Amino acid sequence: MTVHFIGAGPGAADLLTLRGRDIIASCPVCLYAGSLVPAEILGHCPEGARVINTAPMDLDQIIAEIETAHQAGHDVARLHSGDLSVWSAMGEQLRRLKDKGIPVSVTPGVPSFAAAAAALGAELTLPGLAQSVVLTRTPGRASSMPEGETLENFARTGATLAIHLSIGNLDKVVAELTPAYGADCPVAVVYRASWPDEQIIRSTLSGLKGAMDESISRTALIMVGPALAGEGFDESCLYSKDYDRRYRPQSAESPWSGWSPEHE
Ligand SMILES: C[S@@+](CC[C@H](N)C(=O)[O-])C[C@H]1O[C@@H](n2cnc3c(N)ncnc32)[C@H](O)[C@@H]1O
Repeated sequence: MTVHFIGAGPGAADLLTLRGRDIIASCPVCLYAGSLVPAEILGHCPEGARVINTAPMDLDQIIAEIETAHQAGHDVARLHSGDLSVWSAMGEQLRRLKDKGIPVSVTPGVPSFAAAAAALGAELTLPGLAQSVVLTRTPGRASSMPEGETLENFARTGATLAIHLSIGNLDKVVAELTPAYGADCPVAVVYRASWPDEQIIRSTLSGLKGAMDESISRTALIMVGPALAGEGFDESCLYSKDYDRRYRPQSAESPWSGWSPEHE
């Protein structure tokens, strides 16, 4: 018996990995984390599966449910939205299951920041503008931030920021980012990326408040940084005509000359 943690993706039912789908189809028990996991994905559960929404449950109840499946020898599909590596609460479940000697596997999912970037048609790392992406959040009722992980500090790097769980803190986000990025820095808010009711708002830090749709109060990402402009950047060396590289040696003297993939 194994508990299979599966990233269920950002919303669109076909943004689930084939591996995730097949594991779900093989598990007689499925625990899923609330409304961000679409019903269509639950449709991959086998007929008669025990399918439980864990949103109203506490950690003890979730682990008790898994232990019951463990005793019955039933594999469990444990679904969380997006990918499991960020804000999934997988860590605390893994720790408890490890203590109990219950085996686990982890299958990644499409994270919401990638779905938001796709909705924007944006590369977040444009040469000369930004070469790092910071996945972060602001403090919430249930979660404080470790010292040093402030928006001001991240803004000083000039990186592209993907700010999660913070649409209710918009004033604070704008106030903390403006000194480093400047009032004209491009911003995009992507609401429910990849869902049928997806919405995109593009603005600048100074214009964002006025551009916002007041009905957006959750499940949105705030993307900030010069790369969001999608212009004013350098072309990468990768496809540059005269860049000497393994796959395109530029002369007989090139260290890559005569190299072929079979040499690897
Ligand atoms: C608890 S976190 C889950 C993050 C998830 N594990 C991931 O990989 O993206 C929930 C936050 O992720 C963001 N989020 C999740 N799904 C989203 C979507 N489809 N569109 C925009 N933001 C989303 C929002 O900021 C939301 O408040």
